[in-house]
Amino acid sequence: MTAAVPSREGPAPVLRVEDLCVDYFTDAGRLRACDQVSFELGPGQRLGLVGESGSGKSTMALALMRMIKPPGKIAGRVFVGDDELTSMDDNAIRSARMRLIGMVPQAAMSALNPVIRIRAQIADVLQVHEPAMPDAQVKARIAEVLEAVELRPEVANLYPHELSGGMKQRVCIAIAVALRPKVIIADEPTSALDVIVQRQVMDTIGRLQREMNIAVILIGHDMGLMAQFVDRLSVMYAGKLAEIGPTGELFARPTHPYTHMLISSLPTLGKKGVFRGIPGITPSLLSLPSGCYFRTRCPYAMPICSEVTPAQQAHGTDHRSSCHLSNVEGGLTGRIAAEAASVPDARMGGFS
Ligand SMILES: Nc1ncnc2c1ncn2[C@@H]1O[C@H](COP(=O)(O)OP(=O)(O)OP(=O)(O)O)[C@@H](O)[C@H]1O
Ligand SMILES: [Mg+2]
Repeated sequence: MTAAVPSREGPAPVLRVEDLCVDYFTDAGRLRACDQVSFELGPGQRLGLVGESGSGKSTMALALMRMIKPPGKIAGRVFVGDDELTSMDDNAIRSARMRLIGMVPQAAMSALNPVIRIRAQIADVLQVHEPAMPDAQVKARIAEVLEAVELRPEVANLYPHELSGGMKQRVCIAIAVALRPKVIIADEPTSALDVIVQRQVMDTIGRLQREMNIAVILIGHDMGLMAQFVDRLSVMYAGKLAEIGPTGELFARPTHPYTHMLISSLPTLGKKGVFRGIPGITPSLLSLPSGCYFRTRCPYAMPICSEVTPAQQAHGTDHRSSCHLSNVEGGLTGRIAAEAASVPDARMGGFS
């Protein structure tokens, strides 16, 4: 079991995830792409989820919506308010999806059906959940949600190929918020857009979050965007939550070397010099190393790291990570300081 999450001051969480696990069964064997993930999300809170490709971010998002297809298997519990999603029967989960948790899926733009007009694609979500809604009301709601994402009502008459990438992404966001869910998950919502449109789309998500008080889980790779957008940040590595905590605190005082390396790989205008990448590649989920999964790439690995899987440890009320360095005097901060004092930039490798 994961360490209990220390209680936070403030309103009850809208989302509570307890020991969420996802197993996929492949020809090469079973792999665990989400491994005992636990966290909470307060109303209207913005949580970022980062981690290299294949670390399990989309898997976790799909598991929260109970959208892992068999033979994939989900274990653990997901509460939205008092509703527990993983034990619901098929009818209940169909009604809960999009009503409790909305989702902007990864590659959302290709998720739109190319041969169906936007109007019908939004109407579909409304009518599945409220079949008795009169046509006039459906029409009004479609115009309303399009306006909420800054699109003209006439966009409803168009097919996806008639829209720009940014407009398609906005339609996907409109569908995700159409039923005013308590939580939306946006899986890399801006990765296929140019920087100007990225900014506009993030502004729209931010405004909807504030106006509707929707909690947002933003999945992405862009640490700069995360620093600006989210209140809390979580870092995933090989299916496990390596660290989670308030964004400012994670950037100022990361307690997991992987978090520190992700932050160090962010280029800054003020600091010229070696651009630090993370050496090595993510391990295959089919053959994970013993002990800590990150130890094969960790510049601070100790003998215990190959022997014992590190337990989650709290650093204050809302900050947790799993790293054996937390039990060493000075922790990660001490190691970073010692390293800086000896050979700067020597250990993490990189390229100029
Ligand atoms: N349906 C599936 N069947 C088997 N394995 C899967 C399936 N979906 C994902 N995986 C595996 O699970 C792991 C996590 O994949 P996932 O797509 O969740 O990663 P991600 O963090 O979202 O990556 P990215 O940043 O590239 O989107 C990967 O090893 C992937 O190959
Ligand atoms: Mg993904």
